[in-house]
Amino acid sequence: SKRWAPLIAERKNDVRPLMADTLPSPFSEEIKGIADASGVPLGEVVLFNIFYEVFTVCTSVVAEDSKGNLLHGRNLDFGLFLGWDVKNKSWTISEKLKPLVVNLDFKKNNQTVFKSTNFAGYVGMLTGIKPHMFTLTMNERFSLDGGYIGILEWILGQRDGMWMSFLTRTVLEKANSYEEAKKLLAETKLLAPAYFILGGNQTGQGCIITRSRTLSIDVLEIDPKLDRWYVLETNYDHWKEPFFLDDRRTPAMRCMNQTTQTNISVSTLYDMLSTKPMLNKLTTYTTLMQVSEGKLESYIRDCPNPCMPW
Ligand SMILES: *[C@@H]1O[C@H](CO)[C@@H](O)[C@H](O)[C@H]1NC(C)=O
Ligand SMILES: *[C@@H]1O[C@H](CO)[C@@H](O)[C@H](O)[C@H]1NC(C)=O
Ligand SMILES: *[C@@H]1O[C@H](CO)[C@@H](O)[C@H](O)[C@H]1NC(C)=O
Ligand SMILES: *[C@@H]1O[C@H](CO)[C@@H](O)[C@H](O)[C@H]1NC(C)=O
Ligand SMILES: *[C@@H]1O[C@H](CO)[C@@H](O)[C@H](O)[C@H]1NC(C)=O
Repeated sequence: SKRWAPLIAERKNDVRPLMADTLPSPFSEEIKGIADASGVPLGEVVLFNIFYEVFTVCTSVVAEDSKGNLLHGRNLDFGLFLGWDVKNKSWTISEKLKPLVVNLDFKKNNQTVFKSTNFAGYVGMLTGIKPHMFTLTMNERFSLDGGYIGILEWILGQRDGMWMSFLTRTVLEKANSYEEAKKLLAETKLLAPAYFILGGNQTGQGCIITRSRTLSIDVLEIDPKLDRWYVLETNYDHWKEPFFLDDRRTPAMRCMNQTTQTNISVSTLYDMLSTKPMLNKLTTYTTLMQVSEGKLESYIRDCPNPCMPW
């Protein structure tokens, strides 16, 4: 706080609008448009858009059923440490976000190009589908080389690279196959580390790309030959043990294993994502996607007590 407080104080009146100008097109223009249309100060809209890059904890899974159809599910958990309401046993920000959940349909020449589950006013993508081609979600990867540090360095103009959720949106718009999406997600230089969870439209096409800022560290793929019929990511590298206070991976995998490939479907995937602690007090929405039908459906969530804060 000693290092950054004077800087923020000194630039309080201009740093955030300045940041809006630094963002690439069309994100910069969209953010300004949102500020104009809503009457919310530009700086607040910028912060709203940057926050997700830092505070999201999630569960994402791509699974292949026995017929070779690919299903993709995710819980978006947001608001950790941003104010716990003792009386309501809830996270203040998570509660405020729930009414902002929207399903968006991006069209060109009146044709759907891609769809996403978003928060109104947020221009990046954390969850999306390119119908009949691929599905994509992003989970935060906590790492020393990124997160706050990367973003502060970017504010100071000392870092280049792309915002993670701007890349996912660009990929949803521009990539025209699973392979093309995978390449862009693995090779584009980022501002901070991330996990990209990508599903394709045919057997074996599902992967978790573990990213550092500059490169892909690891790609774990669905492999029917190894009986690996799903890949699942929370917020920890899959080859390491998860943080012991936040192990959503083991119970999620136990659920998937018990469900079996024969019985996996949109509804059993929803059941898995509705099981505590995958469902917790931070969970704002659950999205389920079926690439072959081009379908995306989402649910605003509530975790009844007793329920873990995360
Ligand atoms: C607590 O929850 C209730 C019901 O969900 C809501 O009406 C109320 O506004 C909440 N209180 C606070 C302080 O958020
Ligand atoms: C766009 O498509 C919708 C139905 O999908 C149709 O109702 C509408 O008239 C179309 N608009 C234009 C400009 O073609
Ligand atoms: C899968 O995606 C590829 C690449 O976009 C496309 O050529 C193919 O038709 C798609 N297959 C199905 C079954 O939709
Ligand atoms: C689930 O099954 C996979 C593959 O057989 C196995 O590696 C993993 O340890 C199992 N996990 C749990 C929690 O049952
Ligand atoms: C799969 O679903 C069928 C029908 O709902 C059910 O009878 C069976 O017990 C399920 N199998 C497993 C392993 O859950």
